[in-house]
Amino acid sequence: MQATKTSTPLIVHTKNELNVIERKHPIAAVFTMGALHEGHAQLMDEARKYVDQSGNKAGTVIVTVFVNPTQFDDPEDFAKYPHTLESDIEVCAKSHVDVVFVPKVSEIYPDENVLAERISAGPLGNILEGAARPGHFDAVLTVVNRLIQITKPDVMFFGEKDFQQLVLVRQMVTQLDLPVAVIGVPTVRDIDGLALSSRNKKLSTNSLKDASRLYEALTLAQQRISEGKSLTDIETECTSYLQAIREIELDYFEILNESLQVPKPNEKLRAVVAAKIGGVRLIDNISIER
Ligand code: PAJ
Repeated sequence: MQATKTSTPLIVHTKNELNVIERKHPIAAVFTMGALHEGHAQLMDEARKYVDQSGNKAGTVIVTVFVNPTQFDDPEDFAKYPHTLESDIEVCAKSHVDVVFVPKVSEIYPDENVLAERISAGPLGNILEGAARPGHFDAVLTVVNRLIQITKPDVMFFGEKDFQQLVLVRQMVTQLDLPVAVIGVPTVRDIDGLALSSRNKKLSTNSLKDASRLYEALTLAQQRISEGKSLTDIETECTSYLQAIREIELDYFEILNESLQVPKPNEKLRAVVAAKIGGVRLIDNISIER
């Protein structure tokens, strides 16, 4: 067996450093908060593939690692967010990332007297995850916009795992006419179907088992659609299925369209779910074929 080749990425901490290094186009970006796992690696691999297939084999893959304080509703959650830079860099190296940008808070949020655009996510930012975490998506879009201005990518990769985030980033790029393409990457799961997340590390062995029920409920919805059941009946069944599990504190299970609105007949569907398990809030979703 051949050993996996790695290449050490360039680590930069400031905008000035970033501005002076040579970055060939296309520039592909993956924005992260670190604690990198195979889900993030998949985004990086897609970014690498995109760049390498662009014809000139000379583009740049840039990964940002920045735990954005403003998007946490619970200060304790922010304080406890894992910082694993050394292993993060290893993950980036394995995926042949060229540059890792690890800014301090002051690099991203200059002092208050400097004009910095704050973004509002609008009504779509107030439903589902936004209802549970008011202001969260304004903060996410504001930091993503900042990261775009700083890294100047031609294309950026986001995980479908955070589907509402992906939809909102697309919305922002369209509404602000940002010159960057957005590519969504399917969710990477463990063998039981559980979507990989840095939060899974907080789950006990039992909670991990309970957590895989979320994916079971999503696939149950797919099965019921194939059997021709109505969306309302399926939502009711999947909701009861999850509510019957004592360890699961269900927040929502909904079947929506790809824009996270109530689906019209024949529109593509997306089932979304959120629940607290063992004190940890988890989200997941799948696309559903009619
Ligand atoms: P973070 O949670 O670190 O996720 C970074 C990117 O990895 C996001 O696009 C997310 O959807 C993707 N991702 C996470 N788990 C995944 C999985 N199992 N499969 C596929 N992709 C996965 O999302 C954020 O950070 C932040 O909100 C950020 C966009 C960086 C802004 O601060």
